[in-house]
Amino acid sequence: MTKSDVAEEDLLFRLLRQLDQAPEASQRSTAQALGISLGRLNTQLRAAAEAGFIKITERAGPDKRQRFAYALTARGATEKIRLTDRFLTRKLAEYDHLHAELTGTSSGLITLKTRAKFMQNNLTPIPELYVSADSAQKLKTEAADLVSWDLTPRQICDLELLMNGGFYPLKGFLGENDYNSVVENMRLEDGSLWPMPITLDVGTDFADKLEIGQDIALRDQEGVILATMTVTDRWEADKSNEAEKVFGADDLAHPAVNYLHNTAGRIYLGGPITGIQQPVHYDFKARRDTPNELRAYFRKLGWRKVVAFQTRNPLHRAHQELTFRAAREAQANLLIHPVVGMTKPGDVDHFTRVRCYEAVLDKYPAATTTMSLLNLAMRMAGPREAVWHGLIRKNHGCTHFIVGRDHAGPGKNSQGQDFYGPYDAQELFKKHEEEIGLEMVDFKHMVYVQEKAQYFPVSEVPEGDTVLDISGTELRRRLREGLEIPEWFSFPEVVQELRRTSPPRSKQGFTVFFTGLSGSGKSTIANALMVKLMEMGGRPVTLLDGDVVRKHLSSELGFSKEHRDINIKRIGYVASEITKNGGIAICAPIAPYTATRRAVREMVETYGAFVEVHVATSLEECEARDRKGLYKLAREGKIKEFTGISDPYESPTAAELVVETENVEVDHCAHQVLLKLESMGLISGGWG
Ligand code: PPS
Repeated sequence: MTKSDVAEEDLLFRLLRQLDQAPEASQRSTAQALGISLGRLNTQLRAAAEAGFIKITERAGPDKRQRFAYALTARGATEKIRLTDRFLTRKLAEYDHLHAELTGTSSGLITLKTRAKFMQNNLTPIPELYVSADSAQKLKTEAADLVSWDLTPRQICDLELLMNGGFYPLKGFLGENDYNSVVENMRLEDGSLWPMPITLDVGTDFADKLEIGQDIALRDQEGVILATMTVTDRWEADKSNEAEKVFGADDLAHPAVNYLHNTAGRIYLGGPITGIQQPVHYDFKARRDTPNELRAYFRKLGWRKVVAFQTRNPLHRAHQELTFRAAREAQANLLIHPVVGMTKPGDVDHFTRVRCYEAVLDKYPAATTTMSLLNLAMRMAGPREAVWHGLIRKNHGCTHFIVGRDHAGPGKNSQGQDFYGPYDAQELFKKHEEEIGLEMVDFKHMVYVQEKAQYFPVSEVPEGDTVLDISGTELRRRLREGLEIPEWFSFPEVVQELRRTSPPRSKQGFTVFFTGLSGSGKSTIANALMVKLMEMGGRPVTLLDGDVVRKHLSSELGFSKEHRDINIKRIGYVASEITKNGGIAICAPIAPYTATRRAVREMVETYGAFVEVHVATSLEECEARDRKGLYKLAREGKIKEFTGISDPYESPTAAELVVETENVEVDHCAHQVLLKLESMGLISGGWG
């Protein structure tokens, strides 16, 4: 770059900064602040407008000197961030030069790597991608006219950490070259260590209508504009290759691989982000901190060494003991840094976990420990994830990081084997420790030693002593069955929280789903079952009978396959909501299609048990009974698409229970269902 190029770039940088900070200032004072003439300013403003960095609008009002207003566009804000970086790099180089001239030695600040280290001292602020509050307001109005993308929950988590510096040095969603480099080598194109592809996946239809270079608005699920992005890259990635290289196997048993193939859009978009506002959180606001807020907190308290503990599980006594030991070993303060964005499907929900963490926090020595919530969407990528977690914690101002056995492990693959070796994560972290810039504290598996009534690392248990331990699976079983959880294992407050949200099965919601031909006896048995369950009490019972649902929920629907499917999925949705909230849903539609019944099962099983009961009365018997006279009309062709006569019924092959109704009392049929429910632990015995 020639001297005059540098001067031009500096001027543009200062102009954009000035307009960002004082958008209402008159031209005269802007020119003064920049130390240039009004004429020069006008030339600069025109050039910046032509490049798309600023927008010029005419102002109303009598003041002739203030005829125009100048506001930064999304592109201008991004350019400002880029130029800030270049400006700082240049100034550091100048400083280094001077340093060398005066002392004969290098200041050590100029190479990019050392500069990054300098910038990232754990107490100094880290760069964010947000524009100033004033510009944000303007950008928001401007962005309302842009094509917009509604972010998925995972993308919202990624965007938050991009904007607040949690994913520093990323400046946006990865472009194609960076993506390929991250997938293949765990590094960005410029060589910086970055193990996880952070991409904006979209559908083909959306991608097709974009042009490269176009700005798009990124909205949350309520339509609030959070950021704009200049689309610099659009490509269709080789997802199987991504799965192999990043997650170690193209196996759908891995939650992130499943997400990649079955949830993520086909096309990836990349480009720099201009942050407008943080995603809104209504829960635990006081416990959420950006990297800079945490850095400021550590600075204020004088915490120069901070060890971070990453977790997606409730903390029990062993965790408390190990984090406490880790902090003592590193002579550091402790940050409990749980993930509340997205964790492994099936984990304890974050509301419950945060209440548990708050209870445990009181057990640490006062003023040594703090907790902050991290809105990260985990990928469960084991070793790569550990390195990623380290970089994120470094950005949050930590100096040490605890890496455990099987860190961020996704569980078993489709062959029933672990995806990663138990110490792969520690090894990969160790290899890159210096570059991550954070010291690893390896996790000691802590066990309870009965004779000593205290916790020890498993390798330090005194010989001959009795070791007690409860695995995660065993804990879940005890919670499910309402069994005792000993005091040596956890804190009473934590156990109480967990019991509240994971009550034993006999107190959880569930769905009984009857299926069978018209007139098979579904409604009659369902009614009898409802009354018996109500007699037992304890949980509210709701009956979603076929006829009744069609009258109230599905009155506009007929009996085509499409309409029957809509009808059954509505029933499934209501049943899943009832189940989620601890009630009993009894459904009694015909539900003739296997695939639709399976879809309903999946909906419900997210929240509780699904008990499919096939009322297997034969067509001959149903027709002979013909309680509503419908079979006669169907045979005469007066009712079309009648199940069993002119429409199919696919019999279940794996129902939890099959009931025969021919020559059997209704009471007995309902009793059989109750027996089944008891054997599944859904109702407790003693109901007669
Ligand atoms: S489905 O297939 O699950 O959506 O059917 P469902 O909502 O359970 O509704 C079945 C009741 O509607 C009456 N009916 C018919 N059934 C089957 N086929 C046709 N074409 C039809 N037309 C009306 C019938 O009374 C069913 O009630 P049940 O209680 O099953 O006898």
